Amino acid sequence: MEDFSVSSLVDLGKRYWLPVYKPRELVLDRGKGARVWDTEQRDYIDFGAGIAVNALGHQDPDLLAALIAQAHKLWHSSNVFYTEPPLHLAQELVEASGFAERVFLCNSGAEANEAAIKLVRKWAAAQGRPPERRVMITFRGSFHGRTLATVTATAQPKYQEGYEPLPGGFRYLEFNDIAAVENAFATGDIVAVMLEPVQGEGGVLPAAPGFLKRVRELCDAHGALLVLDEIQCGMGRTGTLFAHTHDAVTPDIVTLAKALGCGFPIGAMLAGPKVAQIMQFGAHGTTFGGNPMAAAVARVALRKLSSPELLANVQRQSMALQEALTSIGSELGVFAQVRGRGLMLGAVLAEPYCGKAGEILNVAAAHGLLVLQAGPDVLRFVPPLNITDEELSDGLSRLRVALRTFVAR
Ligand SMILES: Cc1ncc(COP(=O)(O)O)c(C=O)c1O
Repeated sequence: MEDFSVSSLVDLGKRYWLPVYKPRELVLDRGKGARVWDTEQRDYIDFGAGIAVNALGHQDPDLLAALIAQAHKLWHSSNVFYTEPPLHLAQELVEASGFAERVFLCNSGAEANEAAIKLVRKWAAAQGRPPERRVMITFRGSFHGRTLATVTATAQPKYQEGYEPLPGGFRYLEFNDIAAVENAFATGDIVAVMLEPVQGEGGVLPAAPGFLKRVRELCDAHGALLVLDEIQCGMGRTGTLFAHTHDAVTPDIVTLAKALGCGFPIGAMLAGPKVAQIMQFGAHGTTFGGNPMAAAVARVALRKLSSPELLANVQRQSMALQEALTSIGSELGVFAQVRGRGLMLGAVLAEPYCGKAGEILNVAAAHGLLVLQAGPDVLRFVPPLNITDEELSDGLSRLRVALRTFVAR
């Protein structure tokens, strides 16, 4: 007989999973909107949305209908044949982007970034640039994925330790330090700059005003490409479909994943005119990329996440969340700063609570609230973008009680 008790399920994870995760000891069972329930019927407000993935909450009826309809038709065909959903999805992504000409569909964020890194190198090769002059700038605090190339692009030693030898061709600079970027370009070996318009894992840190624009100018002046990783901050999260719209820059490559499938795995690399023709037959590929079920869901996600009503909700709930976090912060003295953009907000812990984000998350879960951290010092709030007033205020009440309990310890 299978045992469905929490302790026995958790034991299975501890016994059989490669122990690379440390999940909270609860087993989530179902969700609706911004609310999820565990197997013991406790409910939680979901301010983490599966790490900024469930942008339309749980069980959105349109996503569900698209998935079920496609599941009854065809699950998979590989890219040896055409199916309809990824064809329309590619067209719609190109049209929505305003800059891209072509799309490569894949299964995850790391895979989209891996494709971007390979595309940059192939472009450089096509220009006759020798390998030693194909250096990509990335920024400290960034997160670009866990494959060997993307973890090397991720300028955080904790993710790289033990995986040496790492691939070459990356140079790390301080985020938002434009003088450092100018100096790096002076070396003459820079082929691209890759960055998140709002750093996610690195602490919910937006690019400083003017930073992206200046980086774009430097890329243009030195014949380099601008690659934007919008895997976390894209798809409406900051209040515009693409985060770089706030900075009024045109990228050469944009990567998407997470909310693109709203919980069904899919990633995409969007390629602008300079690079759209570079990879030809056989240059790259993947078995599952553009899977018809994933693409059918992503078409609906793209349509709904682009809608003015949804984006207006992001702006409105962002204000409400920022105000509430600021007020909780000053009432309890727990936050030094609230930062971020749209519904991608970080509450930086005040000095006495530095390093305690993980503990706070446990207390929050015990009070019926799922929230994330971005490093040890920042609470990360990335709720569904269609979160209602009622769900937001319920979540904030739970947060207030949880933080009071935590502070009183
Ligand atoms: C900005 C950014 N890029 C890339 C990734 C990697 O995506 P995935 O985990 O789907 O490979 C993440 C994941 O957190 C991310 O936040």
